[in-house]
Amino acid sequence: MAADSSDVLSRIEKEKTGYLEELKDYLRIPSVSTDPGYREQVLRCADFVLERMSSAGLNAERIETDGYPLVYGEWLGAPGKPTLLFYGHYDVQPVDPIELWRHDPFEPTEEGDELVARGATDDKGQSFAQLKAVAAVLAERGSLPVNVKFLVEGEEESGGDSIESFVRTDGGETLACDAVVVSDSSMFGAGQPSLLYGLKGLQYMEIKVVGPNRDLHSGAYGGAVANPANALAHVIAQLRDSETGRILIPGFYDKVRPLADWEREDWAALPHDEEAYKAELGLDATFGEEGYSTLERAWARPTCDVNGLWSGYQGEGAKTVLPAEACAKVSMRLVPDQEPAEIARLFTDYVHAVLPSGVTLEVTEIHGAPPVLVEVDGPLAAAAAAAQQDVWGKPPFKIREGGSIPIVGTFAQVLEVPILLVGMGLPDDRLHSPNEKFNISHFYNGIRTIVRLLDRAGVE
Ligand code: BES
Ligand code: MN
Ligand code: MN
Repeated sequence: MAADSSDVLSRIEKEKTGYLEELKDYLRIPSVSTDPGYREQVLRCADFVLERMSSAGLNAERIETDGYPLVYGEWLGAPGKPTLLFYGHYDVQPVDPIELWRHDPFEPTEEGDELVARGATDDKGQSFAQLKAVAAVLAERGSLPVNVKFLVEGEEESGGDSIESFVRTDGGETLACDAVVVSDSSMFGAGQPSLLYGLKGLQYMEIKVVGPNRDLHSGAYGGAVANPANALAHVIAQLRDSETGRILIPGFYDKVRPLADWEREDWAALPHDEEAYKAELGLDATFGEEGYSTLERAWARPTCDVNGLWSGYQGEGAKTVLPAEACAKVSMRLVPDQEPAEIARLFTDYVHAVLPSGVTLEVTEIHGAPPVLVEVDGPLAAAAAAAQQDVWGKPPFKIREGGSIPIVGTFAQVLEVPILLVGMGLPDDRLHSPNEKFNISHFYNGIRTIVRLLDRAGVE
């Protein structure tokens, strides 16, 4: 086994429950970045991360931005050795629907091996595992085998631009490194690590269909004027063929890079259990684009989905009303080589073209992120794969996933180094859903994996 880590691994064994308690304190801060009502809490969370970095032994600072601060820390005491840049995010998704949580989402609760809280896996638990690994090595040895930098942001979940402009303006000066290590995704399954080489991009839109200047009596006016809710339903129905699952926006697929033959072959051989997948979701059937498997649809084919939909009366009983407007939020997940800005244009033109008469339409672009494919070879990627094998006893599957991490594409472009997507979560972690969890054993193994990565990268 290259480079012995047993000194640090035994320290982790002794101290791990303390690390878990610290993670719980982190999870108690409701850092919901998309909702301005949580502003003070998000800022408090940045300070928590700053304090944890400093006490780990990093030179840490808060980098102010137009939005939420970035927290940056570094330890550069290993001249001549590689530099790893660790990325994570301290913000979390909103908690709604709150009534479906078994406990307060911000009071982390242990349920067997599961630690249940908003942000447990996405991304406080994973990002904190990176930091505790570095902290444990520094505490044990007073030095690290490689140089490290940390950049932890507070706007990942709200598609914020702050980190994007920081990375571009900095141009690789502060952030110069030999590889970026991102832990903000999941393993393939229980006991099976993965090293991702692709993430989807995203274009998020909001559409508002506007009709009469006020809600109307649906008997007095119904049939005489267009109903915005009906019109919106028509527009949404035109987005996608409900038989074939194909998206009907002209030009949408023009730049889609087809799956490579080797990908189709490799993925078909993965131990994906369709029955277990359906059972875990409470479904009788999966659905998606004709001609592609579940994994292919989820990892490598673009999508167009309604994320939110509202109009008219939502309360108890009936109210006979013809709503004045109707709204929808729509996300399109993108794959190489689709471009978010172009997709936004195609979408906007198309929804205008299929809009029934008698109503008007407002279309807003909320945010976008480019799709990415990254290199997973070279000595540092090999060190990451070997570190995963050291801890999990199996080499990682090299796969893609369907989520988006907007800054990853920018890192690849600006820093021109490998991006190592070393996820520690599980596919059933319920990220963005009620009762989000992170397995406590994964928190500990995540720490161990990063320790092994540091030691292996140090002997490269
Ligand atoms: N950690 C996720 C991304 C992710 C999820 C990667 C699952 C791989 C597997 C990240 O926090 C996230 O949720 N990203 C958003 C980005 C958006 C708000 C711009 C997403 O994918 O919806
Ligand atoms: Mn995340
Ligand atoms: Mn997320």
